[in-house]
Amino acid sequence: MDDLRDKYVTRIRDAADADALEAVRLAAVGKKGEVALKMRELGKMSPEERQAEGPKLNALKDEINAAIAARKAALEDAALDARLREEWLDVTLPTRTRRQGSIHPISQVTEEVTAIFADMGFSVAEGPQIETDWYNFDALNIPGHHPARAEMDTFYMHRAEGDNRPPHVLRTHTSPVQIKAMEATGAPLRAICPGRVYRADYDQTHTPMFNQVEGIAIDRDISMANLKWCLEEFCRAFFEVDGIDLRFRASHFPFTEPSAEVDIRCSWEGGTLKLGEGDDWLEILGSGMIHPKVLQAGGIDPEQWQGFAFGMGIDRIAMLKYGIPDLRAFFDSDLRWLRHYGFAALQAPARHAG
Ligand code: PHE
Repeated sequence: MDDLRDKYVTRIRDAADADALEAVRLAAVGKKGEVALKMRELGKMSPEERQAEGPKLNALKDEINAAIAARKAALEDAALDARLREEWLDVTLPTRTRRQGSIHPISQVTEEVTAIFADMGFSVAEGPQIETDWYNFDALNIPGHHPARAEMDTFYMHRAEGDNRPPHVLRTHTSPVQIKAMEATGAPLRAICPGRVYRADYDQTHTPMFNQVEGIAIDRDISMANLKWCLEEFCRAFFEVDGIDLRFRASHFPFTEPSAEVDIRCSWEGGTLKLGEGDDWLEILGSGMIHPKVLQAGGIDPEQWQGFAFGMGIDRIAMLKYGIPDLRAFFDSDLRWLRHYGFAALQAPARHAG
């Protein structure tokens, strides 16, 4: 037995890698290994002999297993050391100064909007781009037969025959995130929800995928006046133009009551768009007081709480602020366009000064 021990202890110590070690393990303590064969011999022994030899064999088996485990750990340590020696990266190397990337206007504007609303106490909430039709429609007071479902040119997800799960859609607006935010935190609540939305539409000012930002504020005594102040404050800070003038025009959305669309005063004189002057109006967002049914769908008691909501196109306000004429170019991945309209990495988002 001592010979057996010496033989395997040496072989284990000499095993150069995990495969070699496994081969030794099988030869020693595997089902057909030498120790197993010896165990089998116990059957032929007299009871006295067996009582003496059995424990010794078991001890040998334990000893070999322990030696294998120790060698395995040592091999793994050595392998890790080798990797650490080889796979290193000098993070102090200077970055390339030429051919730098730039920040896409959508990302820049999302940052700007987030920063301005953060100053007013709004946090950021996000939700999935694939939604059940309940979150995208029903919870927002748009029942199955409602014409708004058709108006939004919804993309429905394919459903296999016999699939009884609720229908899924590519969300047509960021409003489903309202409901998710209500469910997550309850009232009071102040959040903006930026993200991608989808509608089957394509021309100079429409693309099948675009970006919206939703805003909601829920508290015990929120009114249209608060909505108006927030949006005016936002537009002044965002567009960085003195004398921004907004027009609240009565409108209808199923999820708000009363509802208002907001237009911004502008002029197109000489073919260029100027904000804050002239006699033209450009629609920039939809808004209103959250409908009691919508609060209810989000698990909030409309007897106790009320709130406002608004939704605007991030791409749309980016076009307005930075004079970008065609929405489709946003998503063409044309590097020349990005170099022209993109932003340097450290360009800070606009912030309200006052
Ligand atoms: N969800 C509306 C849209 O996409 C915008 C909106 C949001 C209107 C919130 C009112 C309140 O057209």
